[in-house]
Amino acid sequence: MSSAVLELIYRDIASDMLEVEAEIRAVLESPVPDIASLLEVSGRYGGKRMRPALVFLVARESGGVCEGHARLGAVVELIHLATLVHDDVIDVATMRRRQETVNVRHGNYEAVLLGDIIFSRAIHLLARLGNRRALLALTQAVSTVCEGEILQNRHRQDPDLTETTYYTIISGKTAELYAAATGLAAHLAGAADGVVEAFALCGLKLGIAFQIIDDCLDVAGEEAQVGKSLGTDLRNGKMTLPLLILREQADEATKALLRRVILGQEDAGGVALLNDALRSSGALEEAVKRAEAHVAEGLLAVRSACGRDSLALAAVGRYVLERKL
Ligand code: IPE
Ligand code: IPE
Ligand code: MG
Ligand code: MG
Repeated sequence: MSSAVLELIYRDIASDMLEVEAEIRAVLESPVPDIASLLEVSGRYGGKRMRPALVFLVARESGGVCEGHARLGAVVELIHLATLVHDDVIDVATMRRRQETVNVRHGNYEAVLLGDIIFSRAIHLLARLGNRRALLALTQAVSTVCEGEILQNRHRQDPDLTETTYYTIISGKTAELYAAATGLAAHLAGAADGVVEAFALCGLKLGIAFQIIDDCLDVAGEEAQVGKSLGTDLRNGKMTLPLLILREQADEATKALLRRVILGQEDAGGVALLNDALRSSGALEEAVKRAEAHVAEGLLAVRSACGRDSLALAAVGRYVLERKL
């Protein structure tokens, strides 16, 4: 599926998304030229804007878009942006959203502080939203994202990582923010608690699927198309779902190679060999299947709570599974 489908999904929420852009632009301003130029680097980042789009799509399904949704969308996107700025320091990444990363342009020192500025401005905007439940849920989600990244770090160079821990990591670092976005979107739309929970679960499941596909793209995607540094997971000794699947299915020699790559005992040639083994093993296809099952579970939760399917969320689910960027 191409991004044309995404454009179709976004067409109905185009004016809402413009409001989000305006909120984000206002947050990324500064009267101090040195800070303004730093903020401008992050502001120039485009991105797919998946999380604010989901805020509006869920709002439309659960009671209607109201005044707070654009601000909620901006807050969630800004939190996401801050995590990306920090994540690129952690992963020693050089490209993000088709540009050099902040850490490359301005160094780790300023990238860490810029991430903190964006975080704090996001929370400031959230406080101005004036919704206690949103404040509680999103501040909790930020903590969970960081905990997920820490857990991931503790399992670097761990070739024995379990699937359970992998899911704990990706639920924390990625899916929890999706869950907060969709759950709070329904809450602001005035939905009953059961419906809010169903949309939060759907967001969680979409987020899990999103990260599984991201992990597949890290192995098999094209940097020029995806627009960010790829191959960083293997280089940094991170076990992801395609590798867990390969570990289950591969012959002894491939398993031994996988261990050595994850333990950092192989050079670029060994990493390339493992990449080839992964691509030809069917592990990527199996990972996509598992992501599909998560999307289906998420959509089912919404159907059970609302008594009907959400076509828009189903389209987002398909996009998440088939995206190439
Ligand atoms: C990248 O997120 C980080 C992950 C959670 C995998 P996105 O793929 O949503 O990044 P942008 O916002 O489109 O750049
Ligand atoms: C997602 O993990 C990071 C965050 C949720 C902050 P990745 O490290 O896989 O994300 P990318 O691939 O750099 O976008
Ligand atoms: Mg990264
Ligand atoms: Mg990745």
